[in-house]
Amino acid sequence: MFSLTGKNAYVTGGASGIGRAVAEIFIEHGAKVVIADVVEASVVAAEMGATAVYCNVAEEASVAESLSKATASLGGKLDIVVLNAGVGDVGSTLVETEQSLIEKVTKVNHWGVLYGMKHAPASMNDGGTIISTSSMAAFISVPGSAVYSAGKRAVTSLTEMAALELGRRSIRVNCVCPGYTATALGSGEEGQRICKVFTALGRVAEVEDMSGVYLFLASDASRYMTGQVLKVDGGWDCGPTEALLELVTGSSAAPS
Ligand SMILES: NC(=O)c1ccc[n+]([C@@H]2O[C@H](COP(=O)([O-])OP(=O)(O)OC[C@H]3O[C@@H](n4cnc5c(N)ncnc54)[C@H](O)[C@@H]3O)[C@@H](O)[C@H]2O)c1
Repeated sequence: MFSLTGKNAYVTGGASGIGRAVAEIFIEHGAKVVIADVVEASVVAAEMGATAVYCNVAEEASVAESLSKATASLGGKLDIVVLNAGVGDVGSTLVETEQSLIEKVTKVNHWGVLYGMKHAPASMNDGGTIISTSSMAAFISVPGSAVYSAGKRAVTSLTEMAALELGRRSIRVNCVCPGYTATALGSGEEGQRICKVFTALGRVAEVEDMSGVYLFLASDASRYMTGQVLKVDGGWDCGPTEALLELVTGSSAAPS
């Protein structure tokens, strides 16, 4: 059920972090993979047995072109599309947020996924699967991250819409919402302190904690799932942990 043998996959932001781990697990399970990234990724791609194409997800023409190049390089249409590229820039307060940050984060994190969902279906086989990367920031608002959080919430909305529209081609569309994950984007000390107290599992995620979920969504194991938004957050959104209660009230039990 988890085999991807014979499948062609395209992963944006596949040069590092979560995207790279996803590309690697897809290859391990038999897929042929193209990574699409704004940075030069041919060395990374060669290391993992993938190929690389240039893609700036913030530019519609670049997304369309990279999809065409991916199908040409793979010699066939795509079965799995992962719209994962993102930037983690956060501002200060909403009223102080610079226009340049608004444009950069919205274009990459929101429009980048929109362009992927708009153009990928033409390059896909019926019965394929699209997986978007949102974030727990779509649900848990941390002050100072308004533009990032709003863009990630937009990704969940786009996922549901695309699932509705592509169901007639049996293309499934699902979304992963990672919590803090140890990557260039999310490995700061602050994230580790937050996860220790705010997550039930008490730790930051590793990329391998995410990649298995993408494999599940890419494979037949999830073949009746579409339009779903999966929170992969170590239990962050379950409610206050014992560690948090202890910190705030001095007791790990519910306040009486
Ligand atoms: N790491 C975390 O804590 C965390 C938490 C929640 C969600 N996410 C999301 O996971 C996704 C992957 O992030 P990551 O943590 O692996 O970070 P990362 O920085 O390791 O990887 C991001 C990748 O996206 C690429 N990229 C950036 N802008 C691009 C553009 N305009 N066009 C094409 N590629 C571009 C980068 O070159 C890089 O390879 C992002 O969407 C991010 O918002 C990460």
